[in-house]
Amino acid sequence: MQQKTTLISTSQFHKDVYKGLTDFPKHLSSKYFYDEIGDKLFQEIMDMPEYYLTNCEYKILDKFKDEICRAFFKDSKEFDLIELGAGDGKKTKILLRQLATEEVPFQYVPIDISENALNQLEESISNELPSVKVKSLQGTYFETLEQLCTMQRKRKVIMFLGSNIGNLLHPQAVEFLMSIQELMNDDDLFFIGFDQKKDPQTILNAYNDTAGITERFNKNLLARINRELDANFDLDKFLHWEVYDPETGTAKSYLVSKENQTIHVNGLDLTVTFNAWETIHTEISQKYDDNVVSWLADKAGMEISRIFSDENKFYKNYILKK
Ligand code: AVJ
Repeated sequence: MQQKTTLISTSQFHKDVYKGLTDFPKHLSSKYFYDEIGDKLFQEIMDMPEYYLTNCEYKILDKFKDEICRAFFKDSKEFDLIELGAGDGKKTKILLRQLATEEVPFQYVPIDISENALNQLEESISNELPSVKVKSLQGTYFETLEQLCTMQRKRKVIMFLGSNIGNLLHPQAVEFLMSIQELMNDDDLFFIGFDQKKDPQTILNAYNDTAGITERFNKNLLARINRELDANFDLDKFLHWEVYDPETGTAKSYLVSKENQTIHVNGLDLTVTFNAWETIHTEISQKYDDNVVSWLADKAGMEISRIFSDENKFYKNYILKK
């Protein structure tokens, strides 16, 4: 907890903030939403009535847990259930509970960048599901996944829930899926959630809630730069703005400067000027349909093996194979 700013002065965060605020148009990466405060705000987002994604995925897992778990443990061979970005594991526990009652030999391997999130997850599983073996791995997805693959050759089911892939543009998503594909063997599975195209208003509302939680989440990027890089952003001088293009399925978040202003980012020795109504692009949340998912999978050398959907077809979980 000491002298964060000096210790990580050449960190990726510093470089990315510098690049993003000096580029035109300006941008900041959504991966920096998730500090301790951002994690809490995202928890609040998942509980909002407008943010249908979490509830839809929860319902899908609950309704199809039998079928999903049967697909997971084909041939009843022992396997590792690996989860990328496990978070609080609320949805995953539906599947863990199911697998535990069926007495399938498996080990749960949550991977997360946050040591704190992993500790909490391990503790809650040992309380609620003491028979489930957990071996958490702290680190970035691919470092840890690669490590795991060189360590052993057990069958793998890799999970990536929450439509987290939606933060990637299609070319990056293909790259991401390719890296997964390369680590998979023929009988391994990839279980992934994709939020679907739907009434554009429903999507806009999910990212522009009336209580202003998403606004606080988006503005936390500026607050974080204030905290960690000794900057003086006035959050009230920026608007949270959301757009959704129903043709491409891309939702985009912006912070829009309400007036001409000059910001000092002391930690980067940087002065940034904003014209009135100038934007900072902060996030994309891509929406999909079966054709696009099938195209992405194909580009990455995978194919769709099963599709599970909620009754409104708002959200789908796919089982992909090599
Ligand atoms: C965690 C990336 C899936 O894009 O829907 C929620 C993050 N941003 N509200 C999403 C988010 C604004 C979320 N993902």
